[in-house]
Amino acid sequence: MTPTAHDLLARERHSVRAFLPRAVPAELLEHLLAVARRAPSGANLQPGRFWAVEGAARERLCSALAQARRDGVPEQEDYGYFPRPMPLALRKRQVAAAQALYGAIGVARGDEAGRAAQFERNFRFFDAPVALVVTIDRDFGAGGFMDLGMCLHALMLAAQGHGLAGCAIGALASYPAVVRSALGLAESEVVVCGMALGWEDTQAPVNSTRTAREPLERYFAVLR
Ligand SMILES: Cc1cc2nc3c(=O)[nH]c(=O)nc-3n(C[C@H](O)[C@H](O)[C@H](O)COP(=O)(O)O)c2cc1C
Repeated sequence: MTPTAHDLLARERHSVRAFLPRAVPAELLEHLLAVARRAPSGANLQPGRFWAVEGAARERLCSALAQARRDGVPEQEDYGYFPRPMPLALRKRQVAAAQALYGAIGVARGDEAGRAAQFERNFRFFDAPVALVVTIDRDFGAGGFMDLGMCLHALMLAAQGHGLAGCAIGALASYPAVVRSALGLAESEVVVCGMALGWEDTQAPVNSTRTAREPLERYFAVLR
């Protein structure tokens, strides 16, 4: 089948964790978010908010997150993400993704310091020109998160179409109280994730990370 332009965008998209030092014009960011907001949502409720965090606010947030890590503040997500305990089949996928990432940057299996250094880059939004914090009103259930997920992917594809790239940052959801306090967000804002956006540094080893997908039969079956 001949791939469409959309097929190609979706196939080429990959998480990018190092960026060129080039600003993203405000109009472009607004355009991407307006496109992403065309995503469908149940009853068209359009849940979630995107906060572009810049300047002093970004400094405050990144310092507070780094401090929380240093102080060993316990991780306490507002919402459940991964299954606990993680079933073995999923654990294998998680390990494969980690190996793809750490393999790309030459961090060996037992290199805890190397892993921690990469992990901490999450809390600096990988030094991307655009740092987004994504929140959802606390009253939403799983359906609202699903709607917001569609919007997040729409944002990544819109960015890809304009030559940008990025990475969702679930790690941010581990310290929601720190995020709310640093940004002055209301207690009702559940921190869903962060998002780094910008132009990919194609020379950065971390951006050679590539992940595979399970065979389609694992996700798709026809029932008659
Ligand atoms: C909601 C969400 C949260 C994520 N959180 C992180 C994160 O905290 N740190 C990170 O490096 N990658 C994060 N990722 C990227 C995933 O690891 C990545 O999407 C996955 O391994 C598949 O790789 P690909 O995006 O290159 O196709 C996240 C992705 C999603 C969708």
